[in-house]
Amino acid sequence: MSILILIILGYLIGSFPSALIVGKIGYGVDIREHGSGNLGGTNTFRSIGKTAGIIVLTADILKGSLAAALPFLTGVGNEYALIAGIPAVIGHCYPVFAGFRGGKAVATSAGVLFFVAPLLTLSALVVFVITLYISKYVSLSSILAALWAHTYAIIWSDKPLAFATFLLVVFILYRHRQNLERIMDGSERKVGWI
Ligand code: G3P
Repeated sequence: MSILILIILGYLIGSFPSALIVGKIGYGVDIREHGSGNLGGTNTFRSIGKTAGIIVLTADILKGSLAAALPFLTGVGNEYALIAGIPAVIGHCYPVFAGFRGGKAVATSAGVLFFVAPLLTLSALVVFVITLYISKYVSLSSILAALWAHTYAIIWSDKPLAFATFLLVVFILYRHRQNLERIMDGSERKVGWI
């Protein structure tokens, strides 16, 4: 399988619009018209509820892991995991199956990174949970967890991973630019269940 096909398949896997499908088919709700309008787990929790949120979050993480596992599953070689995984993150944010309006990269990035570097991802999850407990902002917790993942990759001198996490941090910051503005002016939504 060529690299180009891996990239395309990764993008298509990431494009699967879990939040749209769970919301519309399961609950008759288009979550693009609710809450932040984001097609992701957080907005599904917020707009529909806990069960739907957990399903979407799990599906979005699995998309990333599946795309990253594709080179292994097809015998191309594990070293291409990020080459297939990063396009899945782009597909999640700009899904061809949902008018190129998707999520904010976090859950699918976590799925990719979990396949490639489970310890890094678990440590980033700890950063996420602590930040969420203190701040109640999912967006800020996501950003700090991504920054930690990049720092971890630098500390462990893993150049491909440091480069990939750098791209993910830049992308996650870009996708959260409105959340950052809202945090600054105090209008960002806090989670109520913690
Ligand atoms: O992963 C998305 C999260 O960080 C923010 O989502 O819906 O609050 O903009 P939302």
